[in-house]
Formats: sequence, C-alpha cells, structure tokens
Amino acid sequence: MSVKAVLLGAGKGTRMKSDLAKVLYRAAGRPLVNWMLEIVAQAGVAETVVVVGHQADDVAAVLPPGTRTAHQPQQLGTGHAARVGLEALQVAAGDIVLVLPGDMPLVRPETLEHLVELHRGTGAVATLLSCQPADPTGYGRVLRGATGHVLGIVEQRDATAAQLAIREVGTSVYAFDAMRLGQALAALSNHNQQGEYYLTDVIGELAGAGHRVEAMVAAAIEGEGVNSHDQLATAAAELRRRINRGWMRAGVWMEDPERTYVDADVLLEPGVRLRADTHLEGATTVAAGAEVGPSTYVTDSRIGPGAHVWYSVLRQADVGADAEVGPYVSLRPGAMLLDRSKAGTFVEIKNSVVGEDSKVPHLSYVGDAEIGKGSNIGAGTITVNYDGYQKHRTVIGDGAKIGSDTMLVAPVTIGDEAWTAAGSVITKDIAAGALAVARSPQREVPGYAARRRARADREKT
Ligand code: UD1
Ligand code: CA
Repeated sequence: MSVKAVLLGAGKGTRMKSDLAKVLYRAAGRPLVNWMLEIVAQAGVAETVVVVGHQADDVAAVLPPGTRTAHQPQQLGTGHAARVGLEALQVAAGDIVLVLPGDMPLVRPETLEHLVELHRGTGAVATLLSCQPADPTGYGRVLRGATGHVLGIVEQRDATAAQLAIREVGTSVYAFDAMRLGQALAALSNHNQQGEYYLTDVIGELAGAGHRVEAMVAAAIEGEGVNSHDQLATAAAELRRRINRGWMRAGVWMEDPERTYVDADVLLEPGVRLRADTHLEGATTVAAGAEVGPSTYVTDSRIGPGAHVWYSVLRQADVGADAEVGPYVSLRPGAMLLDRSKAGTFVEIKNSVVGEDSKVPHLSYVGDAEIGKGSNIGAGTITVNYDGYQKHRTVIGDGAKIGSDTMLVAPVTIGDEAWTAAGSVITKDIAAGALAVARSPQREVPGYAARRRARADREKT
C-alpha cells in the first residue's frame, strides 16, 4: 500500500496563446512541470508518472533523467489523461494515487501530505483539494449536499447561474483509491460543453455510487493554476517571494527582495549581500561576503567569497575571492577572474584568465587571453584575437605593464615584467622585462596653427 502520483502535463495551454506547451513555461528559472515533480517528490511520493502529449519530446527533455512518462497522443481531457497515467503506473489494491495538474506550482508539499493523511484517516475513496479564491471564475465549482458532503464538481462552462455563485472550487489535485479511480475513469463520458473527458466527473461518479468523497480546503494561493500569462506572472512572483524568504532566513541580506530575482537552482551562502535589481539565474553560486548588484545579471556563474560585482552582466563566468567587477562589465563564457583581480568600467572579457591581483580597470576587450599575476592592463587595451577566420591566444606574464590603448595582435606572448608603450600595436612577442614601442615617433611642426589660420582666411575671401 503506497502513494503514487500521476502528473497531468499533456495539454497545450490554449489560454497562453502560444505554441509552447504550458508546462514548459518557466517560473524562477524552472519549468512548471519540474516544479510539480519537485513538490510531489518532497511530499514523499514513491513513484510518479508524467502524462505528456503536446510537444511530448520537448517536455520529456526537461524532466530529470529516469522520470517515467506516459503518452497521451490526443488531448481528450483531464479524465482521459488521468487514465493514460494510471495505466502506466501499475497500481495494486490499497494504493493511493495522487492526481495533480501540471500547472499549480504554488501547492506546498505539506499540503499534499495532509491530503493523503486525511484521505487515509476518513477512509474516503476520493479526497479532493479545494480552495476559495477571491475570484472563482474559470475553475470547477465544488457541489456539496445539505450535510456538507461532496456531491461533485461542475465546470465553469457547464454550470448554472446558481452553481457559478459557489465560491469553493476544485484545484485539480486529488487523492484516490487506485482501484476505484480506475473503475470511475473507465465509466467517464464526454457529454459536456467541451466534448472532453473531465477528471472532475469522477468525483460525481463516485459520490453518486454512494462512496465517501471528502474535500480538504487549502489556502487560496496554493490552488492558483497557471492558465494565462497573467497567472504565470502571479505564480512566478509568489515563488520568487518564497525563494527570497528562504535565503533571507538562511542569512542572505537583500536590499529589496521584491526586486531581487533568484532562480530556484541558485546557491547562496550566509553573508551574501544582494542589492536591488539583481538577477541570479541558472546554476549560479555566490559565496559568503560577496556583494552583487545593484542592476546585475548573472547566469551559470560562480562568484567567490568577498567579491564585489555591480552594474554588470556575467554569463558562465568565474569570479574569484575578493575580486572586483564593474561597473558596466560584460563577463562572457569562460571568463575567469582569479582572486583579488579586477575588471573595471566598460570591460569585456571572454574565455580568458585574469591572474591573481591583476587589473583590467578601464575600456578593454580581453578575449582568448591568459594574464599572469599582478599585471596591469592599461585603459583601452584590446586583445586582437580574431584574424577574420580564426581566434588566437594572447599570453601575458606576471607583473606586466600594458600601456594604455595597446593592441595585442594575437597570437602573441608578453613576458613577465614586460612593458608596452601606450598606443602600441604589438605584433611580436616581448621578452621578459623588456619595453616594446610599436608606434610612429612623434614629430613637431612649429608655428603650424598660425599658418593654418592664415590659409583659411585667404580661402574665405
Ligand atoms: C481543471 C479542472 C477544474 C479545476 C482547475 C484547477 C477539469 C475538467 N477541470 O481545469 O475543475 O478547477 O483545473 O486549476 O479537470 N491535461 C492533459 N491532457 C488533457 C487535458 C489536460 O494532460 O487532455 C493537463 C494539462 O496539461 C494541465 C492539467 O491537465 O496540466 C489541467 O488542464 P487545464 O486545461 O489546465 O484544466 P483547467 O481548465 O484549468
Ligand atoms: Ca489549469
């Protein structure tokens, strides 16, 4: 006797007005279907089958490896989907089956556990999770008898005016006796306004046959489904709020949690400081004592302890301990700033290592380069890494001093402690400790200004 689950994710999501399967829409960086799977797993469910249909391959592709799926080739309704899922589950007598929609990411694992407890405790054949939203429009209304017992659910489209006035709605989450669910699903018809097999009709079916059906009322927010972009934004905002609350409790400081966007899979250490308008996405990690923001976008990057990153964009970058990034820096994939290094104002770095204590303080492009320890890259320096066909590497040793506005035409190697004169176009390797000057010598033309003005005056007359 175990608890198993069927997750319904085959629908298209017509009200999203796009072709993307609804369960693939993301909230806090995670597809809705993955949110649902995570919630079900946290509720301690042993086995789950995800029913896929619309864009089945794309949905299956985002599921964690090993997730079981069942295919519903045509979306004939939630009842039909539940049947497809149940057939794939292989249930035994006494098993409890949770059925959940793919679009309800605000339901809490504890709520599912309570639903199962209540279901077990009352001995009902079905227990549905209901709620009382401020606006019940669009949801199925729960019909109760004179003594309060559940009689059925009627869909919005099929409801009478009196039924539409009912505030209690079904959330589409249920606990069922597995065997009874199978029987009731087999008996479903599609004689309704949409010509679909409604899972909700199972409730009326079971209650009508004299079985005990219970309902557990959840907080309205938990029952919010995602059917439109409007509802997606509401759900995402609530998930963000929960994520931020969790991190603040764990010791993260947030200047303004309402303007801080931390994806579900990001990891933060206590003592992290996040300023407003910071987005941390993907598999990003931020270590203790680091400050990020304001106005910074980070995805799939690591920010080391004590680092300071502000007004910048980081993608697949690695920032070492106590490093300085910003303002207005773009760190692209493979940018690696070692401990105490710096990327300052208007600097772009990709696929490069900036060594410990080295600085790229102003207006530079560093690509496909390796910079040693304690080197200084003067303002406006550019690694000329692309010859129009291929990328080439620039290697700079330790303690080098690259003069302002140096073009380092790769492939090129600059030795330890070497210097370049400002404005040089370096096309040849520089030996350790040497100075390379690669620019035309300055020439002076005395009295030029006066002569030039005289010429202009003559031309005017
Ligand atoms: C459903 C309920 C409604 C309830 C509401 C709660 C039915 C008939 N209605 O309506 O009573 O108040 O949820 O949010 O059950 N799906 C499939 N295959 C299908 C059809 C749907 O897998 O053939 C999946 C969808 O991908 C979705 C879930 O079932 O994840 C629910 O479908 P949806 O269209 O969102 O149902 P609602 O109209 O919201
Ligand atoms: Ca829905």
